[in-house]
Amino acid sequence: MEKIVINGGKPLCGAVNISGAKNAIAAILPATILAQDVCRIENIPNISDVTYTVGILNSLGAETKLINRNTIEIDTSKVHTYMVSHEQTKHMRASYYFIGALLGRYGRARVAMPGGCNLGVRPIDQHIKGFELLGASVSIEENAIIDAHAASLTGSPVYLDIASVGATANVMLAAVKAKGLTIIENAAKEPHIVDLANFLNTMGADVRGAGTDVIKIRGVELMHGCSYAVIPDQIEAGTYMVAAAAAGGDVLIQNVIPKHLESITAKLQECGITVEEYDDSVRILSNGRPQKCSLKTMPHPGFPTDMQPQMTVLLAIAEGTSYISDGVHENRFRYVEQLTRMGASIKVDGKLAVVEGVEQLKGAPVLADDLRAGAAMLIAGLTAVSGTTEIENVQYIDRGYEDVVAKLRALGADITRVYAPEPNRLAKVV
Ligand code: EPU
Repeated sequence: MEKIVINGGKPLCGAVNISGAKNAIAAILPATILAQDVCRIENIPNISDVTYTVGILNSLGAETKLINRNTIEIDTSKVHTYMVSHEQTKHMRASYYFIGALLGRYGRARVAMPGGCNLGVRPIDQHIKGFELLGASVSIEENAIIDAHAASLTGSPVYLDIASVGATANVMLAAVKAKGLTIIENAAKEPHIVDLANFLNTMGADVRGAGTDVIKIRGVELMHGCSYAVIPDQIEAGTYMVAAAAAGGDVLIQNVIPKHLESITAKLQECGITVEEYDDSVRILSNGRPQKCSLKTMPHPGFPTDMQPQMTVLLAIAEGTSYISDGVHENRFRYVEQLTRMGASIKVDGKLAVVEGVEQLKGAPVLADDLRAGAAMLIAGLTAVSGTTEIENVQYIDRGYEDVVAKLRALGADITRVYAPEPNRLAKVV
């Protein structure tokens, strides 16, 4: 069993480069199926979610070639099936993007239900509603396989009951080759939605309005290959920002889009942390104890739910009492139990956590319950001034953080991965 071992209490200093965005590439890789051609994608994060997704593309008949550690070429001209098995989808929530992409290409998709982090019940009714409005018949067989088919897809207004990231992207994927105009209302506005739209347009699609809550997609007959670079990961950047704020120090976080980080920057400043913004980097300067602040997670441009566990660690050592409310997912406070083992004082009542700041955390053996819970454990371990933190279930952290141990060690952290080095994940599947 692999573990990450941290002896905390050391400030972080230096510079760190942020990788490509996990939740953008999660939709962009399946979208290549629509091109029936060769796409070259740069700034791919070397994370296990990408490994799984490339594995699915390969099993569908795509030819993939790794050009270098973060660039891949994908030829989807020989994709020959619309079926994706449970074995392939069980690791990842984003496997549901194969439904939209295969439906868009073939008018048919049979994809097993998605896996992914356990954040409570995560329905996909809005995805299904969108496919049905485009003219597809969708059934869920034995609660396990989603079967969608359409003689032809026709553009339609799609009003989403909630601004779901997954449903917005999936409807876009299915609609780009449908006949006529699709209008998604109450669309998600996250940066990765805009990145997917830009990628689809680079392949010849006609998608407008991404980044607002109305997205218009005029179907095109043909799409083609392209060359594209994925945006930097907002949440990886935010995680290093909070890590530097919590552990103290002076860290330059490079290859970021500061606009995407504004809600995180604002909260850190409320806590008394200095954040300097440059064109494509942010610098965090932190010493002394942070101040309390309260936050509520919201869809973009609100404070992202994917940063909530990391921020809770900062507030756990802040002066004063903070209130954190997270209603995006059903249950995103499971990790609190682990933090209390490290001395945090946090009470959870449904979707609200009350955090009484303590002076310091102490190292302890903990579990990464899911991806961002794992990020929170890393930050807690870096912050703990006494004892050693041993994090188990590191496979969750590998889903979304490229070379996290090496990146933190380069910033001066005393952190080791025990039993195996960080692998070059893409090289294993391509
Ligand atoms: N929901 C429904 N019906 C739907 C879709 C969503 O009820 O049809 C509800 C569920 O409760 C769900 C919540 O709305 O939990 C949020 O769903 P959304 O579709 O917005 O999120 P997602 O597609 O499941 C993506 C990210 C998550 C991120 C959320 C919110 C990917 C692969 N995953 O999930 O990322 O938390 O958007 O921003 O893009 C992570 O990176 O750690 C992560 C969990």
